[in-house]
Amino acid sequence: MNSVIETRFLTKIFNQKTIAVNDLFLTVPENSIYGFLGPNGAGKTTTIKLILGLIRPSAGFVRIFGTLMGMDSSDVRRRIGYLPTQPKFPNTMTPITYLDFIGKVFGLPRQVRIPRITELIRSVDLLPLSSSEIKRFSTGEITRVAMAACLINDPELLVLDEPTLGLDPIGRASTVKLITELGNREGKTVFVSSHILADIERFCTHVGIINSGKLIFDGTITEVKKLIRTNSVELQVEGETGSFISEVKAIPHITNVQSFKHGIKIGIDPQHYSETLLDIFRVLTEKNLELISLSLGSESLEEAFLDLLEEEKSHGFLRAISRKA
Ligand SMILES: Nc1ncnc2c1ncn2[C@@H]1O[C@H](COP(=O)(O)OP(=O)(O)O)[C@@H](O)[C@H]1O
Ligand SMILES: [Mg+2]
Repeated sequence: MNSVIETRFLTKIFNQKTIAVNDLFLTVPENSIYGFLGPNGAGKTTTIKLILGLIRPSAGFVRIFGTLMGMDSSDVRRRIGYLPTQPKFPNTMTPITYLDFIGKVFGLPRQVRIPRITELIRSVDLLPLSSSEIKRFSTGEITRVAMAACLINDPELLVLDEPTLGLDPIGRASTVKLITELGNREGKTVFVSSHILADIERFCTHVGIINSGKLIFDGTITEVKKLIRTNSVELQVEGETGSFISEVKAIPHITNVQSFKHGIKIGIDPQHYSETLLDIFRVLTEKNLELISLSLGSESLEEAFLDLLEEEKSHGFLRAISRKA
């Protein structure tokens, strides 16, 4: 599979002190919807500007469609649609006049421009507002104008920087739907950043997680979902549980056992989940206990994400210590 975006050793240091992007190796496959996830200040926007060749890397390089990207790569940039965070527009323009202007910038002849603008305005659901001044628009409506604008040149690659930022739940949902539709169009690759996992997990095929300028995870959505560790089981049993608990504690891969008034919560190493579960049931049967209810605990994707950040933080801390030593 071809990759549309490749970054290698990509690094950006601002003012010789802020390391915004640190040795980033990204690979964005063709036709993927790649979610670029990270908390505020993680380096997402900087990475995107580097990818687009809008700022110069301090080290490393970016390849788009196999071509080395630089400040003068306008030919490559024409094949990319870019949606900046919270885009600004000339106030007096309307969706029609703005899209017409952008179409002219891209050198589209009138007979291509007019039908394309009509189609785009329809696809972002702005038909009733197509002749209203943008200055009166809500954030969600502005995002939709910007989305239409970045599609005007029918780009093969879409780069969207936090398109859901500042939107209310309805705005988020319609933006997510729009991105999904775009991503499913033939031949398009979408690179979309967000600091909210829930916004992108629904439609992404691939995910990269950046924290403090470093890529701490990179993989397919299936791999991400494996991170959602099913890591506990809660049992309600009837009978004498004392010896059951002590035997369960002795089973390998059990991380902890807590006994409550109404049940027992057992922590399990997620890598050995199913085999360990069988061991627990074996003990249950041996002890002649009656199982009343059972629930398998699992982390949400959000928790898995926070765990990753936490893990990275503690590693960073350890690294700092070992460097001093
Ligand atoms: N032009 C700049 N000059 C100096 N520091 C910057 C500049 N742009 C971004 N930074 C810093 O780089 C880091 C990453 O910022 P950014 O890429 O905007 O993060 P994100 O988009 O993930 O919120 C932050 O610490 C930010 O303050
Ligand atoms: Mg940003």
